[in-house]
Amino acid sequence: MKQAEPSEPQTSALPLHMIDILRRKRDGLALEAHEIEFVARGAGSGEIPQDQLAAWLMAAWIRGLSLDETRTLALAMRDSGEKFSSAGLGRTAVDKHSSGGVGDKTSFLVAPLAAACGVAVPMISGRALGHTGGTLDKLEAIPGYRTALPLAEFEIVLKKCGASIVGQTPALVPADRVLYALRDRTGTVENPSLICASILSKKLAAGLDALVLDVKTGSGAFLRMYEDCEFLAALMVATAEATGTRTVALLTDMNQPLGYAAGNWIELVEAVDLMRGKRPTASEDLRELSLILAGWMIFLGGQAESEQAGYARAEKALIDGSALRIFFEMVAAQGGDLRVFDDPGFHKPGATRVLESWESGYVATMDTTALGWAVQRLGAGREKAGEPVDPHAGILFHARRGAKVERGQPFATLYATTAAQLDEPEAILKQAIRFSETPPQSVPLVSRIFTSAEAEEYLARQ
Ligand code: URA
Repeated sequence: MKQAEPSEPQTSALPLHMIDILRRKRDGLALEAHEIEFVARGAGSGEIPQDQLAAWLMAAWIRGLSLDETRTLALAMRDSGEKFSSAGLGRTAVDKHSSGGVGDKTSFLVAPLAAACGVAVPMISGRALGHTGGTLDKLEAIPGYRTALPLAEFEIVLKKCGASIVGQTPALVPADRVLYALRDRTGTVENPSLICASILSKKLAAGLDALVLDVKTGSGAFLRMYEDCEFLAALMVATAEATGTRTVALLTDMNQPLGYAAGNWIELVEAVDLMRGKRPTASEDLRELSLILAGWMIFLGGQAESEQAGYARAEKALIDGSALRIFFEMVAAQGGDLRVFDDPGFHKPGATRVLESWESGYVATMDTTALGWAVQRLGAGREKAGEPVDPHAGILFHARRGAKVERGQPFATLYATTAAQLDEPEAILKQAIRFSETPPQSVPLVSRIFTSAEAEEYLARQ
C-alpha cells in the first residue's frame, strides 16, 4: 500500500472544510487525526455531501492512507454512532468477519457453533458489496427475519440465544453505512485501509473482547495480490489489538466459491444441511473452514485451551445438533419463519437453467470474482444501492476445482429472477472457468495466520 506523505502542520483550532481535506488527500498529504475524524463524523451525520465523500474516497484509494490514518479512520467510524456494550451478556463476546467472498456462508455456522460452546457472538454484518454476497441479504431470504434490531433487542436475542446477526441501523456505525454504499458505487472497495476501517468500525462498535478475521485470498478476493492480503490481515490485527480486542487473522482460499452454493436462500440451505448432519463432499471446505474459525473464536473466548481444542468442541456442537438448535432459536427470535427450512416448495426462482459442461477435463481454474458478478447479475446482488435482491437467485455448482468432468454433464444450475437474466451469467461462467488435462495443484484452505505478535513484526518490516 502507498503511504501518504507527511502532512503539513495544521492547527486544529481553525474550522475544517471538506474541500480542503479532500484537496490535501488528492495531493498525497497525510491527514491529521482531527481531519479524518471530521470526515467520519460528517459521513455518519450526513453533513458532508455524497459527492465530496466520493471524491475523498477516490483520493484515499489512489493516494493511500498511512497506518495512523487507517487506525484513526477505523476508530472515528466506530464512534460515528451508538455502540453496543457486551458487558451485560455475562459471556466473553467474540465475533468473526470475512473480507468478502463468493459463497461464503461461514457466519451461519460459526455464530451458533461458538455460541454453543459458551461464547457470545454479537455479529454486525454487511450487505452484498461488489462481486461478493452479503450476510444480511442472505438472512433476509428467510421470510420475516429482521436484521435491523435496536440495540436493546440485539441484547435480548444475545442473552437468549448466545448469538445474533444484525446489520447497521441508522444509529449504529452510520459512517460505514454511508461510505460502504458509496464505495460500492464508485469503484473504491479494493483498498486495504478502507476495507480495514470498514470492517473494524463495525466489529469494534459491537463491544467485542476478541475477533477472528477471515482474509480471503485468490481469484475471488477483493485484493488479488497475496502480499496485499497479508498487509490487510496484519493491519486489521494490529489496529484491533491496539483497541484492546484480542484478534487473529487467517488468510484463506477464495480461488473458488466456498461450498457448492452462491446466492442467498441456497446458501442458507447449504449451511443448515451441514448443521442437520448432511456431509456432501462439495461442502467439505465450508465445513472445515467454519470449524477452524469457530475453533479460534472458542479459544480466544476462553472456552478452550487451544484453537485445536476449540475446533474439537465446535465439531461436537455441529454433530450433536446444538449449533442447529441455536441457529433456529436466533432466526425465530429475530422474526424469521422457520417453516421454510422444511418446505421444499419455498425455493421458487423465476427462471432456472442447467448449464452443461462445455468441455471435458479437470476444472483447473475459476475466476471467482467473475463468478460473483454472475451471481449478482442473476439477481442475487444489486446494481444500485438500496435495490431489492432476489432471495432465490444464485448458482449451484455441481463441479468444483479439481473435479474431472465430461462434456455435457451438468456443471452448474443457474437461478434467476427472469429468463432474460440467464444468458449473461452463462457467458461469464464459460469465460471464468478453465479446464486442463491434468489435475490442478491443490491450494491450502488456510495459508497463513497472523497473531498480534506476527502482525506487529510484519508491519515493522514494511
Ligand atoms: N466487508 C466489509 O464490511 N467492508 C469492506 O470494505 C469489505 C468487506
